[in-house]
Amino acid sequence: MKHIAIFGYGVVGGGVTSVIEENREAIARAVGDEVDVKYILDLRDFPDSPYGGRVVHDASVIMDDPDVCLVAETMGGSHPAFELSMEALSRGKHVVTSNKEVVANFGDRLLARAGENGVSYLFEASVGGGIPVIRPFLTSLSGDTVVGISGILNGTTNFILSKMKSEKRAFSDVLKEAQVLGYAERDPSADVDGIDAKRKIMILSALATGTLPDDGDVYAESIRGIAPEDVSAAERAGRVIKLIGSFRYEKGSPAIFVCPQMVKKDDILAGVNDVYNAIRVRCSVTGDVMFYGRGAGRFPTAGAVTADIVAALSGAAAAECAPVFTKKSGSVADFDRVRFSYYIRLAGVSPSDAGEDLSRYFDKVEPVPGSPAGKAEFICGEASGKELKAFVASRDDVESVIRLAE
Ligand code: HSE
Repeated sequence: MKHIAIFGYGVVGGGVTSVIEENREAIARAVGDEVDVKYILDLRDFPDSPYGGRVVHDASVIMDDPDVCLVAETMGGSHPAFELSMEALSRGKHVVTSNKEVVANFGDRLLARAGENGVSYLFEASVGGGIPVIRPFLTSLSGDTVVGISGILNGTTNFILSKMKSEKRAFSDVLKEAQVLGYAERDPSADVDGIDAKRKIMILSALATGTLPDDGDVYAESIRGIAPEDVSAAERAGRVIKLIGSFRYEKGSPAIFVCPQMVKKDDILAGVNDVYNAIRVRCSVTGDVMFYGRGAGRFPTAGAVTADIVAALSGAAAAECAPVFTKKSGSVADFDRVRFSYYIRLAGVSPSDAGEDLSRYFDKVEPVPGSPAGKAEFICGEASGKELKAFVASRDDVESVIRLAE
């Protein structure tokens, strides 16, 4: 019998106990032994749960129990999840997690601690929920060089943007629906302001480059400013607005950022709707590889956590390449240097006058067909963020700017 503990009996932690119960036989076959949840660490009590008797409030009970060989950390937040994970690894226990905040901020230290103690630190569920995307970096793609990543990494914002498009509704209206459905939290900032997607692209680019960027070096932009006019303009320009997490090289330096981007209608990412996630990984040998599936939710995420439990306990993780990255501040290209083409909308100016002005800043200026009266809309390119800022500062009629996906 392999005894494990779950830290945090919330949506994901509760899902893990259910998945382990439901798939008990298959898991035992894969691990070569029965897996038993011996403890659950939580501040609360769960008298009505069949696992209520296994709840402890003191982590040292678990840390001191040599029978516990693995901890599934599903607490969320940086602290005390980071400290408890470090402690468990130091005590020779594997740690698996769904906690992208901890991996994005402290993954380098946790992996180092796991290596020192001959155990695994695994985090498949931290990116893309139920989509297997972390392990493929370490297995199938391990002989290749990842040169780019483009992903819809946040289910909540994809739900909001999909509804804004299909039902022609405003951001604030769809956000309320997302909150009622339980996709968006009461404070929706981490999702809508791109913070969650930023953590995920930080983790993926760390796997691609071996360097975990500093949180402050990675640009993230909100979708709060996306208006129905932008959604309509994207449609007329043959595009769809998506919140994209990107990694690519800009003059040899990794550029890592999250922002709303207008994606071409025939791009596979344009057809990814609702709470689904999709990640395109561009490799120098293999070419493009796509990962698609449920990026959020109790069971997809719990399924990915359970897969890591199996990988750690069966020895599969030890046999594969272990994820390794170190952290480095200033390792990312300055976002102001990254070049894009842009959708630009100006108010109160004729398209012919505006077009001439824009040509002074951008090489290519094409009007978007069917602009509403009193508005001039263009696709302009290419320019760096710095050049774009100079253009915006030079006039007071810029109503909207949205970057175009490559
Ligand atoms: N809030 C996240 C999302 C959950 O909407 O994608 C999964 O990380």
